[in-house]
Amino acid sequence: MSSPSPKILVTEPIPDKPLTFLRKYGEVTVGEATQFSNEEALKKVIPEYDALLCMLSTPVTAQVLEAGKKLKIVANFAVGYDNIDVQKAHELNIKVANTPDVLTEACGDYAMGLLLALSRRFNEAEQYLRDGNFKGWEPLGFLGMELRGRTLGIIGMGRIGQAFAHRAKAFGMNIIYNNRSRVDSNIEKELQAKYINNPLQLARQSDVLSLNCPLTAETHHLVDNEMLNTMANHALIVNISRGAVIDEAALAKALHDGRIGGAALDVFENEPEVHPELLSAPNTLLLPHIASATHKTREAIGMLAAKAIASVLKGKSDSDIPNLIHP
Ligand code: DGY
Repeated sequence: MSSPSPKILVTEPIPDKPLTFLRKYGEVTVGEATQFSNEEALKKVIPEYDALLCMLSTPVTAQVLEAGKKLKIVANFAVGYDNIDVQKAHELNIKVANTPDVLTEACGDYAMGLLLALSRRFNEAEQYLRDGNFKGWEPLGFLGMELRGRTLGIIGMGRIGQAFAHRAKAFGMNIIYNNRSRVDSNIEKELQAKYINNPLQLARQSDVLSLNCPLTAETHHLVDNEMLNTMANHALIVNISRGAVIDEAALAKALHDGRIGGAALDVFENEPEVHPELLSAPNTLLLPHIASATHKTREAIGMLAAKAIASVLKGKSDSDIPNLIHP
């Protein structure tokens, strides 16, 4: 008697190609947008499934994992995996995968785009035009910050931090960075990037501060009142990592008080909620977590997650699955 086909839960609609691929390895159920963005909903159904392909908004908590009696793998449709209790998963012998590399270029482009839009005030200027206020060219209209010669401070010099640094260097910016450990000296040389040991010092020296680090206990609220107070009044912040790396209340206050120059935020502490004081803050660009949102990248993310699931269901060894997160 053949064993029943594995059951795979994909928590939200994703591109067709990875779904078609996954259907060769089991019976696939696709949830609806936000259906599994709460723990209870996921906990209820998870006992049926052998594999879970989830979103960064899916709370894969210890309780969910404990309820997943048949679960062999959780593959996140994202590079960041702070939504998964990885330690608990490993304790329960459940594998965890993420999607590094495939979104690096899309995110590098996007960070550069946010910086250009913020420094040259695209959103304010466009709104001004749409509101019917454009009456002719103005010598003093919408003056912004020119990037050449300015210093970009990057916190988190992994793949995405480096991709942003490459682009910013091409725009004539000087690169300084802080990271858990110093990057390879060849990379530093190529980017002419200077390592700064202390995040506060880095923030003090930056005209633009970019957050590209994972959310961990160490990086939670790394950008707090103290850091904001050390920054120059004209300094800009770009965040495409995770919202909780910034203390949003402190940032909103600094923006309202004119203590920093502006912020471009793709991510928020309590997504999809946005701190109300950020909504009314000046020089602020707010976007709905879309750094990796290109057709090509979202398909590649799906394929990488789907392949990790297929490999685990086929019983491949961990060393043959490059995107597994190890204990
Ligand atoms: C991820 O994949 O973790 C990012 O948040 C993409 O924007």
